[in-house]
Amino acid sequence: MNPNKALWEKGDFTRIAQGMRESGDELVARIGVNKGQKVLDLGCGDGTTALPAARLGADVLGIDIAANLVAAGNRRAEAEGLTNCRFEEGDASNLEGVSDDSFDLTLSVFGAMFAPKPFDVAKEMVRVTRTGGRIVMGNWIPNDPTLVAQILKISSAYSPPPPEGFVSPMTWGGESDVTERFTAAGIPADDISFERDTYRFEYAIRPAEVVGEFRSYYGPTMNAFDAADSNGRTDELEAELVALFEAQNESTEDGTTSIPATFLRVTVAV
Ligand SMILES: C[S@@+](CC[C@H](N)C(=O)[O-])C[C@H]1O[C@@H](n2cnc3c(N)ncnc32)[C@H](O)[C@@H]1O
Repeated sequence: MNPNKALWEKGDFTRIAQGMRESGDELVARIGVNKGQKVLDLGCGDGTTALPAARLGADVLGIDIAANLVAAGNRRAEAEGLTNCRFEEGDASNLEGVSDDSFDLTLSVFGAMFAPKPFDVAKEMVRVTRTGGRIVMGNWIPNDPTLVAQILKISSAYSPPPPEGFVSPMTWGGESDVTERFTAAGIPADDISFERDTYRFEYAIRPAEVVGEFRSYYGPTMNAFDAADSNGRTDELEAELVALFEAQNESTEDGTTSIPATFLRVTVAV
């Protein structure tokens, strides 16, 4: 089994994505999606950004490596009667079967960044986007003080070192790496732009309970707990994560969680 696929099928990202829907809606509104546009959402999960794009009238294809999330996305689209939104299994590093120049907008929000072979990912995104179209990526930023980079920092201290040659997904949050990857795919550096943006993780449960959701359903955190378990360090990891989530929680309502996280928004004019 492809380890990248196994990682994301291990848990159920839907449980985490439920707290990210509002930010997904807002991001899609902000980047501008129009009726009739052909949109590819890569690493789409269960459709946090694909569904709002389809609600605006775009013709949306979501591609994701995890079969369970593709099925969940198709169920969500069907439940809303969105016949202009479909989900398929595929790998952002190799979009075989997807024609050249077939999308006006290729979107990937915390999705394609997790695919191996980042240079192939950039090349594929450029290949399938038509000239005059756009690529928009949302990528977590390495060493950022906000939630997601900090979860990774804590988790990696409990995990075995990555295999030789592993390229961290977080490198997609660095402007020079992103520029190198898209210029290698034939895009002039001037056509690549960057902005800092914010997503919010919002749940009607306490921060410690949100950690429980990550521990049970978010593949990368599940792996960190598996590693901590095997070293007798489970409680230590749990305590560090709960302290992080509590410190970053901005909700003023008891028993709820609202945590902002900064990401790098990349826009490529193709
Ligand atoms: C953090 S989740 C984000 C999902 C979705 N974009 C969202 O905003 O809710 C990362 C997603 O990337 C997908 N993914 C990871 N590697 C991939 C690859 N090689 N090709 C396509 N999708 C991939 C995972 O299955 C997962 O759905």
